Formats: sequence, structure tokens, C-alpha cells
Amino acid sequence: MTEDKNKKTEKAQKINGVRGMNDLLPADAAQWAHLEHVLRDLTRAYGYEFLRTPIVEATAVFQRGIGEVTDIVEKEMYSFEDRLNGEQLTLRPEGTAAIVRSVIENNLLYEGPKRLWYTGPMFRHERPQRGRYRQFHQFGVEAMGFAGPDVDAEIILMGQRLWDELGLKGVRLEINSLGQADERALHRAALVKYFEQNAVQLDDDSQRRLLTNPLRILDSKNPVMQALIEGAPRLLDFLGDESLKHFNAVQSLLKANNIPCKINPRLVRGLDYYNLTVFEWVTDELGAQGTIAGGGRYDPLIERMGGKAAPACGWAMGMERVLELMKVSGSLPDTVPGCDIFVLHQGGETLIAAMIIAERLRSAGIDTILFCPPDGQSASFKSQMKKADASGASYAVIIGPDELAKNEAQLKDLRSSGDQQAVALDQVLEAVIDALVGASE
Ligand code: HAM
Repeated sequence: MTEDKNKKTEKAQKINGVRGMNDLLPADAAQWAHLEHVLRDLTRAYGYEFLRTPIVEATAVFQRGIGEVTDIVEKEMYSFEDRLNGEQLTLRPEGTAAIVRSVIENNLLYEGPKRLWYTGPMFRHERPQRGRYRQFHQFGVEAMGFAGPDVDAEIILMGQRLWDELGLKGVRLEINSLGQADERALHRAALVKYFEQNAVQLDDDSQRRLLTNPLRILDSKNPVMQALIEGAPRLLDFLGDESLKHFNAVQSLLKANNIPCKINPRLVRGLDYYNLTVFEWVTDELGAQGTIAGGGRYDPLIERMGGKAAPACGWAMGMERVLELMKVSGSLPDTVPGCDIFVLHQGGETLIAAMIIAERLRSAGIDTILFCPPDGQSASFKSQMKKADASGASYAVIIGPDELAKNEAQLKDLRSSGDQQAVALDQVLEAVIDALVGASE
């Protein structure tokens, strides 16, 4: 007996979500839906096709795609061994390498260039803070098989159009050119020489990177190294004619379309697949995580991943950061539209009538919530009315035993007049349509 009693009072321990990985709560769902809607329209406007890849890929996709000596591959990937067959797998930390894997595997460039877009969760084991999560969502575009600066400009125009559509102000475009491999090799040699001459000023991370990937030293956020980084040789000074021509053409196209941009010679991006144009959109409104989107050209990647060489470029944005910026800029739609109709009843026969009417309304495309008593029994009309009000519904359809006896329902305006009228049960749909049309006029 006592044992039983103890068992009853023992409360199960609650299990929390994983740090840095967030639920999308109903209160925020409408804002995400709004953003997704704008993104779909944007991709359609530019003729981009949707491609979805799995969340899990062979680890090699990212090792080879993003590059071994990058923060993402060295420290941030969620990698694990498949328990059943020992395969090395990784939760995707970004979209591009996976999209390239899919394009090659499915021979998507066989008939010519492709414009693609994707969206979904990405995973990076970073220290969580505002705007930086371990599971976050990206929207990205990838244009494959196009070599010219026109498509670099096109994807940047897409971004600008997006910020305009979303009502985002103060988003700045920073742009740079990473040239080609031989130009980077010359720059790299000059950089190594410079950092070797100043080796005492390098922190531990940068000492190591001097041997593996000196370009990444320029990425360092360590404040004590900023003056040293500022004085380092610039890649732009090592670019040959072709690279400069491409870079200038991108800038001219942007200028012709009134897109302001700032050349940032220190912009190197955190992934190793880029060449020529790279760019980021930044804002001061989000604190430390002010980069809302970034990308560039990655001509060597498709061949590096085992495909037939083809040029490509693209960008991706962090959806959480963009939504946060929309919130800060006051450009989020503020209310979730409620349902149209809330149906109240008193159980038994009135429930049956209410459920049939609710289904009839839904079949006619009218969003309807049917009251279900939390205790599975019944509830007073007063408490049901409170729920109806909170649901955001425009009208309530009320069916109590008195109404049912007369084959009627009451239709009550919940928003403006509060008026209530009796309607024959088989006329409820027509009365609701009249009321909703009248209310929207
Ligand atoms: P990325 O710069 O690593 O580029 O990421 C793109 C965007 O994703 C960032 O600008 C940021 O807004 C968002 N983001 C990155 N990490 C996090 C995080 N931990 N929490 C929240 N948001 C984050 C790429 O991923 C490339 N694949 C972009 C690209 C596409 N380049 C060519 N095509």
C-alpha cells in the first residue's frame, strides 16, 4: 500500500532539448511561414529549382568539400560512426558540399547549367549565443555551370531583393575576390613570409595555421592580432588580369543595378572551396553574429568532389539571424491570423451535430476549431466562449440542446458587433460564408 503511494508521488524527471538546438514554437511559426513564403516567391522570380538533400552525409563530403583545415571540419562537425556498418557519417554543417554531391551523383548538369535552391537545418558544434546555434536553418541558392560575372551579380541581386521584400534596413554588402589558385599561392608565400617575420605576435591557433593554412590567420578575431592582420599583404594586389576583369565586371553590374557594396580585402570566408568573388551581408543590429548571409564563387569544387569540372557560385543565409533582424527592424508581421470559426457544443447529440458542421465548414475551405473539453466530458458555454475569444476566430457557432431541439445553431460575431443570430442547421455554411464575406468588405 505505502509502496504504491510512493510510486504515485514519484515524478518522472523531465528531459530537456539539446543545448543550442531550439524548438520552433507555435507563437513563432507564422513568422517562419512568412519568411519561407517570401523565399519561395524569390526563387520562382529568378527561375531557381528546389533540391533537397539528406541531413546526414558521408563525412568525406564535407572533409573534401569544405576543406580539412577549417573550423567547421576541425572542430564543429557532428560526426559519428554508423553502428551497423561502420560508415563515417556527419550531420550536414552547410548545404553547398551536399548539393554538389547530389548534382554529381544525379548527373544534374548533363543537360546544361542549373539554378538551385535549398533550405533546412544545419549543424555546427559552436558555442551557443544570440544568433549562433548548434542547429540552425539555412536558405541557400547555388547556380552551377555558369562561368561569367553575370551570375555572380544575379545571385547578389537576389539577396538585395530579399532584404527589400523583408523590409530589412542597414544590411551592407561586403565583397572581395580570392582570385585563382596560382594567385593565392603567390599571396600565400608573401603572407607566410610576413607572419614568419612577425611570428612572436601570433597566438597559438595562428602559429599552427601558419603551417597548415596561413590564409585562415586573417580570419582570427583575436583583438591583439588585428594590427598585425591589418598590415599583412593583400590578395587583391596579387590578382592577375583575368581575375581582376571578373571582379570589376561584377562590381560594374552591381553598380548598374544600384547595389552599393564595399570592397573588404580581408574577407576570406571560413570555407576552402571559394575562388574569385566572395561576399557577405552584414548588419550592426545583431551584436557579434552580424553576418546574415555569405557566399561566393566556387569553381574548383565540382571537380574536387569527383564531378566533371563546372563553374559555380551561390550563397546561404542564416534564417534565425534574418528573423531576428526582422524583429529588431520591426518588419515582422505581428499577429498570427486566427481561425475563422470556433464551434461550441454541450457534448452528446450536440457534439455530433457540431462535428458534422465543423467538417462541412472545413470542406468549404473555412478554418474551423471544434471545442474539445479538456476533461473529455463537457464544459460551460462561458468557459468555451473564453477559448473561442482567445483562438482569434471571427465567429462562433453555438449548438446547445435548446438549439438542437429547434434544429438550429447560433452564429455569434466575436470581433466587432457581438451580434448573435439563429440559423437553421442546414444553413450554417451559407450564413458563415455571408458573415465572413461581409466582414472582409
Ligand atoms: P556560411 O558563411 O558558413 O556559408 O553560412 C552562411 C550563413 O549561415 C551565415 O552567414 C550565418 O547567417 C548562418 N550561420 C552559420 N553558422 C550559424 C550558426 N551556428 N548559427 C546560426 N546561423 C549560422 C555557408 O554555409 C556556405 N555554404 C554558403 C555558400 C553557398 N557559399 C556558396 N554557396
